[in-house]
Amino acid sequence: MRIAPVLLAGAFALTSCGKSETPPADSPAGEAMPVPPIAPTAAMGEQVFKRCVACHTVDKGGRNGIGPNLHGVVGAAVAAKPDFSYSSAMKAKAGVWDEAALDTYLEAPMKAVPGTRMAFAGVIDAADRKALILYLEAQSK
Ligand code: HEC
Repeated sequence: MRIAPVLLAGAFALTSCGKSETPPADSPAGEAMPVPPIAPTAAMGEQVFKRCVACHTVDKGGRNGIGPNLHGVVGAAVAAKPDFSYSSAMKAKAGVWDEAALDTYLEAPMKAVPGTRMAFAGVIDAADRKALILYLEAQSK
């Protein structure tokens, strides 16, 4: 029973930190805490892009997979890769993949372009989408 006082002392040391103490990240209460804003970066977007690599490459001249190569997609016309067979829904969308269009599409692809063959639920977190678009843009330079 020597351990108990040590643990107690530890607990007191933690609680004495005051109000700014943050709950552990895995505690449910942690989710309710206000998250300090972190500016999205292309480097963060690289992590988010891991959700896309099953179907997409982004390097210049990269092969098409289940989805088209995404090199240069930011600012490009929708359905512009000549060697990819797009759905008629995507071809009918037309327009340009500017930041706003990408943001709407990536949040809920099948809602933004009903009939798209991109079977992907979407990136729910707005900051993740922002980072992802920065990454796609950086990859296209
Ligand atoms: C399950 C495979 C799959 C996943 C995962 C996926 N995509 Fe796609 N994506 C596709 C397919 C297929 C198309 C073509 C859709 C069509 O023609 O309707 C597409 C199309 C696109 C387009 C339009 C490209 C163009 O040339 O007009 C963009 C942009 C895009 N995807 C981005 C992403 C991003 C970013 C992610 C990750 C967050 C992602 N996709 C995840 C399969 C996927």
